[in-house]
Amino acid sequence: MAKVKSFTPLLFISFLLLASCLSSSNGELFKPNVTIANGLEFGYYRFTCPQVDTLVRNYLTQVYRADPGQAAAILRLQSHDCFVQGCDGSVLLDRSPERSEIPNKHFKQQTFQIIETLRQIVHTHCGRVVSCSDLLTLAARDAVFLTGGPDFTVPLGRRDGVTFPRVNQTFEDLIAPTAKTTEILTKFARKGLNLLDTVALSGAHTIGIARCSSFRERLFPTRDPTMEISLYEKLRPYCAFPEFDSLTWLDFRSPFKFDNLYFVDLINRQGLFTSDQDLFEDPRTRGTVINFANNEFQFFASFAGALIKMGTVGVLTDGQGEIRARCNMRNSDFFNLESVLEKDKNSSSAAI
Ligand code: HEM
Ligand SMILES: *[C@@H]1O[C@H](CO)[C@@H](O)[C@H](O)[C@H]1NC(C)=O
Ligand SMILES: *[C@@H]1O[C@H](CO)[C@@H](O)[C@H](O)[C@H]1NC(C)=O
Ligand SMILES: *[C@@H]1O[C@H](CO)[C@@H](O)[C@H](O)[C@H]1NC(C)=O
Repeated sequence: MAKVKSFTPLLFISFLLLASCLSSSNGELFKPNVTIANGLEFGYYRFTCPQVDTLVRNYLTQVYRADPGQAAAILRLQSHDCFVQGCDGSVLLDRSPERSEIPNKHFKQQTFQIIETLRQIVHTHCGRVVSCSDLLTLAARDAVFLTGGPDFTVPLGRRDGVTFPRVNQTFEDLIAPTAKTTEILTKFARKGLNLLDTVALSGAHTIGIARCSSFRERLFPTRDPTMEISLYEKLRPYCAFPEFDSLTWLDFRSPFKFDNLYFVDLINRQGLFTSDQDLFEDPRTRGTVINFANNEFQFFASFAGALIKMGTVGVLTDGQGEIRARCNMRNSDFFNLESVLEKDKNSSSAAI
């Protein structure tokens, strides 16, 4: 009897543990229904770096609290990495041509530094076993959760790329904010993302900011008729001077919160980009927009699934690529630089 009694609390604790694995502090841990292809795996680092998720989340909780804008920047950075030559961390490389091309021009050095600091933290604990592309994937997942969105597990095991994309590949693979639904669906389909994924992922524009130059054609010379008048009247004077490329919210209803109000914006014709608003104007995607506006749970579930899918595009696994020693450099560049520095040190000490 005494034995049974002492067993009960244990059972209870293991039940709690199980329950806390299944649900996050925020309530629901989303379990998207996706097949993981391309050699990625849930729990990939369970033996080599079991604390990687915790290390990343703890650091980013501080970072995103201090500067919520970084959450949006990191989420966007992950999409730019994955659409151009796959999720291989190429966008993190200082010398990659994609870094200076227009879609990536406005990422701040600080955003890249966050990923590099994460690498330092994680490699200090585990050694050089976790790739920068996996760290970016985890950071994007946490950007969603820590701004109020769904929590979910992401499959890992990406390796970092050692080749740069072609010059101008960024323009071919990414989508301009002036694009309409047909082009958007085509370019997402090229990456294996379907209509539901496309509309869900566009919902990332529920957080973050944009420049007037990204939607100027909707204000000048005349109002895009699919832009609601009061939004137009606010934005037109605000964007009147091209030399001040002012910033505005993508989702003015709740700019820092990951929620479904972006879709409410679209229904009210208050989407910021043509590429946003046209998802409501086009009969193929309108139903999904309305669905997500009415049902945040459905948006969250679809978004989590679609972000996981986006994170599998063109990944390198197993023997491909490498685990970088610095996120902004390929190892061949880094270790060459190291030996050059080493030589400098030797020759300068010889000179003394
Ligand atoms: C149709 C596809 C898309 C287009 C045309 C598009 C375009 C853009 C543009 C033009 C900006 C603002 C840039 C600026 O003015 O500085 C932006 C911002 C942003 N995009 Fe997208 N995007 C698309 C898809 C995505 C996807 C798939 C994600 C992530 C899953 C994403 C996440 C973001 C975020 C979070 C921001 C705010 C960035 C910040 O505040 O720093 N976008 N996007
Ligand atoms: C998961 O997705 C597959 C393929 O899209 C579908 O056949 C299956 O019914 C889905 N399972 C659940 C539990 O929704
Ligand atoms: C890249 O695009 C720019 C602008 O369209 C063009 O002038 C340039 O020649 C292109 N470069 C390459 C290598 O394709
Ligand atoms: C620099 O000097 C150290 C110690 O004297 C030596 O072990 C190392 O190989 C040298 N490095 C180079 C690049 O010459």
